[in-house]
Amino acid sequence: MKKIVILNGSPRLEGNTVQMIREFRRGAEEAGAEVTVFDLKRMDIKTCLGCCRGGKNPDSPCVQKDDMERIYPAYEQADVLVLASPMYYWSVTAILKAAFDRLFAVAEKDPGLRNPRKDAVLLMASEGDTEANFKPVSDYYHALLSHLRWNNLGEVNCGGVMNVGDISGHPKLADCYRLGLSVGKD
Ligand SMILES: Cc1cc2nc3c(=O)[nH]c(=O)nc-3n(C[C@H](O)[C@H](O)[C@H](O)COP(=O)(O)O)c2cc1C
Repeated sequence: MKKIVILNGSPRLEGNTVQMIREFRRGAEEAGAEVTVFDLKRMDIKTCLGCCRGGKNPDSPCVQKDDMERIYPAYEQADVLVLASPMYYWSVTAILKAAFDRLFAVAEKDPGLRNPRKDAVLLMASEGDTEANFKPVSDYYHALLSHLRWNNLGEVNCGGVMNVGDISGHPKLADCYRLGLSVGKD
């Protein structure tokens, strides 16, 4: 059974990103996957200290002790990591970036600082609705995956949504569902 971890970087827990996550999850679970969603907004996640002293305790790899302790074991077991975020200034939200930076502590368990291999998905809601608007984030995502040597399984950018509820009935929700269906298969 595929194990999928979704990091939800939206602070609006009934917002547009969450609706994308719900549809992706529905598809993935229908396909038989086990899906875990972390609502980062509800969690205590500190920013990386850059101390490079992590990885010593395999069960608690970061020197900072906070809610990343819940994410680490799920991340290590996951086949797929989903980055789900509203676009904030042509990037993911600060809380998602903070959580992602802290995953470096897992790479520090390896003497060669190798990251565990994962497949990845990007789900993003944004007000702007052009390819040009999404390009900086998409470029960032691909650069990140190339560095980590992870495999991209798909990106959905739902543009043209600003306020909570704007995404309701949007055709991109069907894309999220279909992507979940395909990613969730063994
Ligand atoms: C601080 C902030 C920065 C934003 N920056 C961008 C941006 O750079 N480009 C864009 O298209 N939308 C931007 N938006 C709009 C959000 O991406 C949009 O409202 C999105 O639907 C929010 O998703 P949510 O409902 O999951 O919170 C920004 C919104 C906020 C609050």
